[in-house]
Amino acid sequence: MFENRMILLEGAEAARATASGMAAVNAALLSQVKAGDHVVAPKALFGSCLYIIENILPRFGVDITLINGTDLDQWQNAVTDRTSCVFFETPSNPTLDLVDIAAVSDIAHKVGAKVIVDNVFATPLLQKPLELGADIVVYSATKHIDGQGRCLGGIVLGSEEFVEDTLAPFLKHTGPALSPFNAWNLLKGLETLELRVARQCDTAEEIADFLGDHPAIKRVMYPGRDDHSQASLARQQMARGSTLISFELNGDQEKTFQSLNRLQLIDISNNLGDAKSLITHPMTTTHSSVDDATKAELGITEGLLRLSIGLEDVADLKDDLGFALSSQVA
Ligand SMILES: Cc1ncc(COP(=O)(O)O)c(C=O)c1O
Repeated sequence: MFENRMILLEGAEAARATASGMAAVNAALLSQVKAGDHVVAPKALFGSCLYIIENILPRFGVDITLINGTDLDQWQNAVTDRTSCVFFETPSNPTLDLVDIAAVSDIAHKVGAKVIVDNVFATPLLQKPLELGADIVVYSATKHIDGQGRCLGGIVLGSEEFVEDTLAPFLKHTGPALSPFNAWNLLKGLETLELRVARQCDTAEEIADFLGDHPAIKRVMYPGRDDHSQASLARQQMARGSTLISFELNGDQEKTFQSLNRLQLIDISNNLGDAKSLITHPMTTTHSSVDDATKAELGITEGLLRLSIGLEDVADLKDDLGFALSSQVA
């Protein structure tokens, strides 16, 4: 039932649910690549997605090319007739960079490569990768789809042919199955997904502007703001700016932690898409496995924070952030 409802929501032909989002990402890739293939992906990915591409695929003879996913010339130059898949997140974790789904799908399809989009940050409500040309969409259902931090889950959606002939045998024989109980939890989550995402986007828009005006903040990254470096692409492929905001404090790690520890309403946690607002320090958590040079290149600095907006009252969130950040203002 969870798979069927996700098929309707996404507009896909078929789907298989998995035990976690990482199981979905892993299966979407490993079910179809073989030694001698080539995979292209941006460096701006969740640390575990990057780990699969950078560390696991090459061990099995798959060549990889990591690029700046915001630059279409780099996509064009990276693909070859051996490229079997391209993989990307948009918006990406944690700096909310966007990848042009339609343009990259055109580039990939010209060499016969499949396009896999990790649509977690956008949710099925704000962005429709299949309509824009992608072949496969993956979700960590642990995030907005569950929405209340109750369970792990994931799902891969695509064509009947890919799901039945390639994905399903891989999942059946390797075993990352979603438990029936968690499928029930995720179905409960789907019942309120639209309401939660709409409310969280309303709040995120207000909080992004609040942070944008705050003297302790060096920069705010929110696809719904006009100062996002890809604001026009955001308007083109996303219905709204998402429920996540990233921002950079002027201070170093110690000062950033000082502010985090003053928060009373917003929890420090790596999860996102939850009913509770959650804040993460990517450098020391979600991206701790990424090497220092790549972190610097991706803008994952000591002062970078990723905020997932929950369902609390917007005024309470402003008060909480305002108090936490007041320690940074002279
Ligand atoms: C973009 C992205 N993809 C996949 C995952 C993995 O999801 P899960 O925690 O359900 O394995 C995450 C988790 O943070 C994520 O942010």
